Amino acid sequence: MRLEQILFSQGFGTRHECRGRIARGDVVIDGRICRDPDEEFDVTGLMFAVDGQPWPYYEKALLMMNKPAGYECSQKPLHHPSVMQLLPPVLRCRGVQPVGRLDADTTGLLIFTDDGALAHRLTHPKRHVPKRYRVTCRHAPDERMLKALASGVQLKDEKQKLAAADIECVDDNTIDMTITSGKYHQVKRMVAAAGNRVESLQRIAFGALRLPGDLEPGKWRWLSGPELFFESK
Ligand code: URA
Repeated sequence: MRLEQILFSQGFGTRHECRGRIARGDVVIDGRICRDPDEEFDVTGLMFAVDGQPWPYYEKALLMMNKPAGYECSQKPLHHPSVMQLLPPVLRCRGVQPVGRLDADTTGLLIFTDDGALAHRLTHPKRHVPKRYRVTCRHAPDERMLKALASGVQLKDEKQKLAAADIECVDDNTIDMTITSGKYHQVKRMVAAAGNRVESLQRIAFGALRLPGDLEPGKWRWLSGPELFFESK
């Protein structure tokens, strides 16, 4: 692929801007400043640096963030900054977007991609992709509450009862709970319908992908290796 096309496809601005960067000597590959926008490179596993910052080439971007509280997933946030502000401009420029939404006060695993088909598959209601949450409850969950969540609770405006696919007690006030649909405020509403209240909510897994313990709140990283296939596991 031509160098100008590589930069353009990865979000480094208009074709004109990409040519400008290349001409200025901002782009380094294999330790060599590359000034020819028409030079061809094999993009398989390609690493390139722009302004000293290394970037891997990815035909489609797929990354995860540990979402902090106080950020909205919407592109046009109302009350808080958007999670998009936590990403570098090149990722925004190439059209990366969050897959599904977490509430502003929910923390944890958020996936981003510019692969519209993948985002569609991951969020399609018929696919029932499991999402696991660590739920801190106001009152210690009792047997009755756990049974209600497991067998299904009726939420306002929903035709059918919604049940947790899995529930595990973590400590006195905390449970891990998996849901396979993505209704508005679903976990909070389910817990409320079961007679309790969510004090804090963290998504700890999306499909087979788990929130890594070493990803600090507000940080993101590319998915790599087997993580790239988390959808099909
Ligand atoms: N369920 C909720 O209630 N909120 C979230 O952010 C995610 C799931």
